[in-house]
Amino acid sequence: MGSPQITENPTIAVDEDEENGISAECKELIHGCRKEKGWRTSFLYEFQGFWCQPKEIDAILSFQKQYLARDSDVILATIPKSGTTWIKSLTFAILNRNNVPVSDGNHPLLASNPHDLVHFFEYKLYANNQNPNLSILPKPRIFATHIPFGSLSESIKSSDCRIVYVCRNPLDTFISSWHYINQLRRESRPPIPLEEAFDMYCKGVIGYGPFWEHMLGYWKESQERPNKVLFMKYEDMKEDAMSHVKMLANFLGLPFSVEEEKQGLIEEIVNLCSFKKLKDLEVNQNGKSIKNFDNKHLFRKGEVGDWVNYLSPSMVHQLSKIMDEKLGDFGLKFK
Ligand code: A3P
Repeated sequence: MGSPQITENPTIAVDEDEENGISAECKELIHGCRKEKGWRTSFLYEFQGFWCQPKEIDAILSFQKQYLARDSDVILATIPKSGTTWIKSLTFAILNRNNVPVSDGNHPLLASNPHDLVHFFEYKLYANNQNPNLSILPKPRIFATHIPFGSLSESIKSSDCRIVYVCRNPLDTFISSWHYINQLRRESRPPIPLEEAFDMYCKGVIGYGPFWEHMLGYWKESQERPNKVLFMKYEDMKEDAMSHVKMLANFLGLPFSVEEEKQGLIEEIVNLCSFKKLKDLEVNQNGKSIKNFDNKHLFRKGEVGDWVNYLSPSMVHQLSKIMDEKLGDFGLKFK
C-alpha cells in the first residue's frame, strides 16, 4: 500500500541537533526522502515506507546491518504508546522467574524501569552508531522495537526467534501519543494542538506509522505463522490479564507448571506488572530511561476508552472510518 500524498511545509526550520551525530550515509539518505512536519522534532522522514526521525533511521540502518537473531531470542514489537512498557515488564518477569522469584523484594522490576531491563534496538542498542556485543547476553535475550515487520532484519524473519506484538485501539493510542509528545516537547516548541496532531495521525504521519501498515504487517504474519508472532491486544490484556500472561508464557516456551499456577504465580506477575504498582515505584516517579526522558510520563492513565474525553464525534467518526477501511477487511477490530 502506498503512503498518503503529503505536501511539504517549507516554513519549518530544521532543528539544529536533529541531524547532529548521524552518519553520512543517513544524512544522504534522508535528503532523498519525503518529509513532513514531525510531532516532537521538526521533521519526520518517510524511510522504507514508514515515518521516522533521522536518529532513529540511523540506528535502524545499523540494526539492519548488524543484528543477528538467535532462535532463542524474543522480540517485543509495538507502535509507540500501545503498551510497550507493560509487555516488557510481563515478559521480563515471566522469562526470568526461575532466576529471580517474582515475590523477591529485590526484583529488578521494583528498582528499574522496564525499558532499562529490555532495550530497544533503535533507541539503545544500535543508537549513536554503536555495534553492541549482544553475544554476551544470557539466553533468552529479550529485545524490543517499534520497527515495522517488513523492515526487521532478515535473520529475525528466517530464524526461529519469537515475536510478541501488542496492538492498541488507535483512538486510545492517538490520545496517549498526543499527551506523551506534548509532555516531552522541548520548551522552545509550542504544544501540538489536538486537531493538528489528529490530522497527521489520520494521514499516517506519526513515528513508525501509518499505524494501519504497522498493525497489518504483524497481524498478517501472526495469521500465517502463529508460532512465530503472537498478536495481543491491549484491551484484551486489560480485560483478562491472567489468561494473557498464561498465553504469553506458553508462546515463549516457558509455560507455568501446575504447581506454579496453584501457588498463584500468574496473579503475582500480573500484580507486579500492573499499572498502579509500576507507576508508584520511586524509579518510575523520579527516574529517567529511554533517551533520558522522565519515566513518569510513561504511566498516564492506563485505561481503555480515554479517547471519549478528548475526541469530538466527527473525529471519532473519521478515525473509525479509517480503521474500518484499512483494517476491517483483514478482521482486525477493536473493543
Ligand atoms: P495512556 O497514555 O493511555 O495512559 P507505551 O508503554 O507503549 O509507551 O504505552 C503507554 C501507555 O501504556 C500509556 O497509556 C500508559 O499509561 C500505559 N501503561 C504503562 N504501563 C502500563 C501497565 N503496566 N499496564 C497498563 N497500561 C500501562
